[in-house]
Amino acid sequence: MALRPRVHAGSRLGATGGMCYLARHLLNMQTKPIDNETLLRQLRWRYATKQFDARRTISPADWQTLAAALVLSPSSYGLQPWKFIVVTDPAVREKLVPVSWGQRQVAEASHFVVIAIKKQLSAADLDTYLRRVAEVRGVPMDSLATYRGMMMGDLVEGPRSLCVNAWAARQAYIALGNLLTCAALLGIDACPMEGFEPPQYDQILGLPQHGLAATVACALGYRAAGDKYAAAPKVRFKPEDVILRV
Ligand SMILES: Cc1cc2nc3c(=O)[nH]c(=O)nc-3n(C[C@H](O)[C@H](O)[C@H](O)COP(=O)(O)O)c2cc1C
Repeated sequence: MALRPRVHAGSRLGATGGMCYLARHLLNMQTKPIDNETLLRQLRWRYATKQFDARRTISPADWQTLAAALVLSPSSYGLQPWKFIVVTDPAVREKLVPVSWGQRQVAEASHFVVIAIKKQLSAADLDTYLRRVAEVRGVPMDSLATYRGMMMGDLVEGPRSLCVNAWAARQAYIALGNLLTCAALLGIDACPMEGFEPPQYDQILGLPQHGLAATVACALGYRAAGDKYAAAPKVRFKPEDVILRV
């Protein structure tokens, strides 16, 4: 018996089958934009880079994407109690090295970002955010009164106002985590850094006059060929030791 092709080119079935495949492919792209292997490969590929190749810089397009990713970081209430300070002046970056435990990543990476928190969040800060909500979503400020009350009663006047800077710092670390993952997915190396003296950073970067405080930083760029840490096996607890099921 002659074998017949299962789908005739140009037949209704062929066209429909092709469309089904395309639809499935598009749906798959929508529901799963990155495959599991790629995600894990990039998370295993990344490491806290100690030595950067000072000659390599992140392309403007990649940097724009990373900057957008930073801005897209989620935060509690959506309040975004942060500023991302991109330190571009080489002289300032050199000045930061001695107050960063001598870590050269600060000066040698393509980009260096300090994540600063807005200190002692106030009613005015809430209103700045709520005006933005009203603008973006096209709703009147009045409609946000309950939401405002909740935030006031929690972070500005409530018990958590006593530790609101610690709350803001937690948000800063979310932005850091987001930045690290996004960089890894773009094949960009990074070193998360809290090995620095925050008061010195504040002073060098002129942060206190803006009500800001340096909280955590991140050097970004490309690993130097000789960075021995790149080849060091990643040390993580076994999944069964850190993922508990109840
Ligand atoms: C918040 C934070 C601060 C860190 N500070 C520094 C730092 O100042 N200098 C440094 O070389 N690595 C720093 N690290 C890197 C960690 O030591 C590193 O992420 C950890 O050992 C896991 O290794 P891996 O990132 O290479 O997988 C920091 C990491 C985090 C998350």
